[in-house]
Amino acid sequence: MREPENTPKPATPTRDRFRSSIGALAATLGSAIGLGNIWKFPSLAGQNGGATFVLLYLLCVLLVGLPVMIAELTVGRRARANAVHAYERLTPGKPWKLIGVAGVASAFMIMSFYTAVAGWVYAYIAKAAAGSLAVKADALGGIFGATVSGNFWPLFWQWVAIGVVGAVVMRGVSGGIERAIKRLMPALLVLLLVCDIRALSLPGAWTGVSYLFAPDFSKVTIGVVLAALGLAFFKLSIGMGAMTTYGSYMDPSENIPKTALRVALADTAVSLLAGLAIFPAVFAFGFQPNAGASLLFITIPAVFASMPFGRVITVVFFTLTAIAATGAMISLMEVVVAWLGERFRLSRTRATLAAMAAMAVVGLPVNLSNGSLAGIKVFGKNLFDLLDYTTSNIMLPVGGLFIALYVGWVWSYPTLRAALSNHEQLNNSRVSSLMHGLLRYVAPAAIAAIFLSCIGLIKV
Ligand code: PHE
Repeated sequence: MREPENTPKPATPTRDRFRSSIGALAATLGSAIGLGNIWKFPSLAGQNGGATFVLLYLLCVLLVGLPVMIAELTVGRRARANAVHAYERLTPGKPWKLIGVAGVASAFMIMSFYTAVAGWVYAYIAKAAAGSLAVKADALGGIFGATVSGNFWPLFWQWVAIGVVGAVVMRGVSGGIERAIKRLMPALLVLLLVCDIRALSLPGAWTGVSYLFAPDFSKVTIGVVLAALGLAFFKLSIGMGAMTTYGSYMDPSENIPKTALRVALADTAVSLLAGLAIFPAVFAFGFQPNAGASLLFITIPAVFASMPFGRVITVVFFTLTAIAATGAMISLMEVVVAWLGERFRLSRTRATLAAMAAMAVVGLPVNLSNGSLAGIKVFGKNLFDLLDYTTSNIMLPVGGLFIALYVGWVWSYPTLRAALSNHEQLNNSRVSSLMHGLLRYVAPAAIAAIFLSCIGLIKV
């Protein structure tokens, strides 16, 4: 079951690519850094025992996330095609392209709730700048409720988010995505550091720091392990084709394992820095760390409102969150645009407009499920929570499982080694054999074991 060893020609001769290695790194990092770092990571860590969860998460990133990310980028670069066609071109006539089909579906599913949250974040920048978040803590719950539950404003902001992302994606890979993200990433880091310095200089900040770094092993359950695994997939944007698509724009000379390692480390650093901007302030002002998703929209504004320069910091904080969310949404939309463009031979403008319209349509009921459609429940969850849970905890890990199996078992070892060492231009032989082992055995076994124990088939 081996595919031809030589790399196919690009799908279209004029296929765009990242112009520089730093651009490729920035775009990939821009996809990884997102609401996951600021909205999911701190709230999951807060609910699941702080440092213990961080530790589990790091294990998932290193043993499963990183190998899958490297595999995906490599699939994309070898095939030079979108997430669906990539598998078709490398292994024609085989069902592996279903990984890509599921990936495009996941891109829609994630976008449907992600754009809603991004919309709230955009709205909060406006609210913070206007000073309407500088109110008593108990009023903030009402403001958040009103932000997410109307029939017009949540949709309006969701469409703004889709519009901003579409405007970037429409300009193309190098002229749009690479250019925009290269400017946004440094801004994000500076804004994050401003928040960190402010939070860490508060009296009592240390409690928050130790909360994030002191392990409490009594909190570990299999559900917590699955949550850590799901977060690793969501965070690194893997298991659904975003990395395959971005890999397809990378230069043949790009050192993929190195780029992936840098992205995983920098992304984890950003999650920890976000935690350090949030928890010290939460503790210093006597709030609860385990508020879940409302941590971002209720606790944070409350905390920031009560400190000096609070209004400025709130604007800064939501701006950096919006930047992070936008970089991630760009990659989600690009998965769909690359596929639509190459599958139906549409111009980039048309493919983007079609993707935007489709995303607005699927996003609508999901967004409204926090308000007028809240009554629709599936497995006890509203549509929003259902899609959030299903993508992170099922679709992405299952996608990752098959990607690992594909590269670990279908590709021969020499193929993998040639792809990771750029045909022996780089000295990556150790990395290649390590990746081979991780993709063949460790990652699939870990994902399968976590799933099986979650559904109760194996006991831990
Ligand atoms: N990695 C992004 C985040 O942390 C989310 C994402 C998932 C983006 C999958 C692209 C693909 O917010």
